[in-house]
Amino acid sequence: MESEIEAVRRSLLTGRIVAFTGAGISAESNVPTFRGAGGLWRNYSPERLATPEAFSSDPRLVWEWYDWRRGIVRAAQPNPGHLALSELQRRTPERFTLVTQNTDGLHERAGSQDVVKLHGDIWLLQCTRCGREERNEQVPLNLLPPLCRCGGIQRPGVVWFGEMLPEDQWERARRAARTAEVFIAIGTSAVVHPAAGLVLVARLTGARVVIMNPDPTPVDDLAEWILRGPAGEILPRLI
Ligand code: OAD
Repeated sequence: MESEIEAVRRSLLTGRIVAFTGAGISAESNVPTFRGAGGLWRNYSPERLATPEAFSSDPRLVWEWYDWRRGIVRAAQPNPGHLALSELQRRTPERFTLVTQNTDGLHERAGSQDVVKLHGDIWLLQCTRCGREERNEQVPLNLLPPLCRCGGIQRPGVVWFGEMLPEDQWERARRAARTAEVFIAIGTSAVVHPAAGLVLVARLTGARVVIMNPDPTPVDDLAEWILRGPAGEILPRLI
């Protein structure tokens, strides 16, 4: 893998870079992933916890799950993978975009800026009645489901299955993917669309694709370089 790492390192010296991250980048911060060994969806059903229908039928159950995950994320610290991406942005500010599917905020805590957040933010609460959004970092929340000051039930500010991605974030992500010269997919199973489609967009518009993952993914065929291993170990070696 040494020669691949060296090749990717060289490819980062010029041109536009997109880092596209998934739950795997936070695995070494002890935040569980959704799929793969120890993945959340092995023991919990996405249909019962991460859809608008689940929330309408049992908001308290859905909130208990999010409240539990907020606790895990609160206790977590950014790992060397998050820190390496923030350092890469510091060195290449004009030509670097970080696009994440994660809602945990660990990239921002590591110092990354202008993060494109495709799936929302676990610290945001959104009123289902008046639409007001607020940041709330209380763990655990004292009332489940939490209520807005208008009396409406608040929901987590994240994207659920069957929902649209935030238009502005998706547009930024697509534009970045289309203009990237190097596109690095880090710690994502690349099965959840439309986000996962960015890898193909990048490839078709001429980017050199790098996949960083300890396990195979369905987009491995698109990659010029595959770096098999944990992001927290590989990313620091790239910069
Ligand atoms: P997944 O949980 O589907 O995939 C995590 C990936 O990270 C897997 O491919 C693992 O092999 C890999 N992985 C595990 N440990 C790693 C490490 N130390 N370094 C690098 N990679 C590692 O997570 P996502 O692809 O992010 O959706 O999932 C996509 C979406 O599905 C999530 O955003 C979430 C989920 O349902 C929403 O919340 C809408």
